[in-house]
Formats: sequence, C-alpha cells, structure tokens
Amino acid sequence: MRIALGCDHGGFSLKTRVRTVIESAGHTVVDCGTDSDCSVDYPDFARKVGETILAGKADRGVLLCGSGVGISVAANKIPGIRAGVCHDTYSAHQGVEHDDMNVLCLGARIVGEELAVELVRAFLSAQFTKEERHQRRLNKVLAIEADALAGKFAS
Ligand code: RB5
Repeated sequence: MRIALGCDHGGFSLKTRVRTVIESAGHTVVDCGTDSDCSVDYPDFARKVGETILAGKADRGVLLCGSGVGISVAANKIPGIRAGVCHDTYSAHQGVEHDDMNVLCLGARIVGEELAVELVRAFLSAQFTKEERHQRRLNKVLAIEADALAGKFAS
C-alpha cells in the first residue's frame, strides 16, 4: 500500500521510526511533512494526508501529533477520512477490521517508540472484514457524512 505520513512538531519525534516501520513492512511512504520540530499547525498536515488519500495518491494514512487528538479531529472533518486515535494494538487493527478506519493517529507524547511500531504494524496488517453488520454500520456512518454535506444538520 501507499501510506500518506504526516505530523506536526508534537509528532515529529516519531516520524522517522514510523516511516521505517511502514517501509520495512513493504509499503511506500508518501511524505506529507512536517520536516522538523519547529512549531506548525496540525490541521495543515491532517489536510495534506486527507487530500493525498482522496486524490488516490495513497491508500491509507498515518498522522502523528502530541496527543493524536487534534490531528484526528481535523482529519475526520474531511469526507471520506475515517481517522482514529489508537494507543492499544487491539483498536489499531479492529478499527480497520470493523470500522474501515483509513487513518491511524498517534500521540508521540503519549506512546513510546516501541508501542508506536506495534500500533503501526497492527494497522497496516488489518483489512476491513466487509461482514454484513460492519458494512451496515459503515453505511450508516457514510449516511451521516452525506447528510452533513447536504446541509441537513444546519440550524
Ligand atoms: C502541539 O503542541 C499539540 O497541541 C498538538 O501536537 C496536538 O497534541 C494536538 O492535539
């Protein structure tokens, strides 16, 4: 797979190791920045990763920030992106298997490098099961997204 990899300054300390893990597992990294620990704004990198996936230039994404939260909130604003903060290995694979999560978000201030490696491996090796109940629930998530885009939640 092609994996869009992005981070802010809070996630930068994990980026090189995460890149190595992705490439060691036989995947290709599409680097979406940032490239240093200079202060930047996490929505810019959530946007880049989301746009890269939606443009068909990557199949999934990995986003890193300090907590994983801000960058996941930003990524989930992009229709078609299903991002999750997963700091346990069960969620990192189950989020793909049941929920078709396509972006893994990690907090570099929360998880150490070795756990991050296992989380990325769990995410990359998982596939959406397409079982009826999971597809049905995913369809309902997509219906929420479609309704929001159609302005049905506007007051
Ligand atoms: C940056 O200091 C920090 O706020 C950001 O990386 C992230 O943790 C936000 O959720």
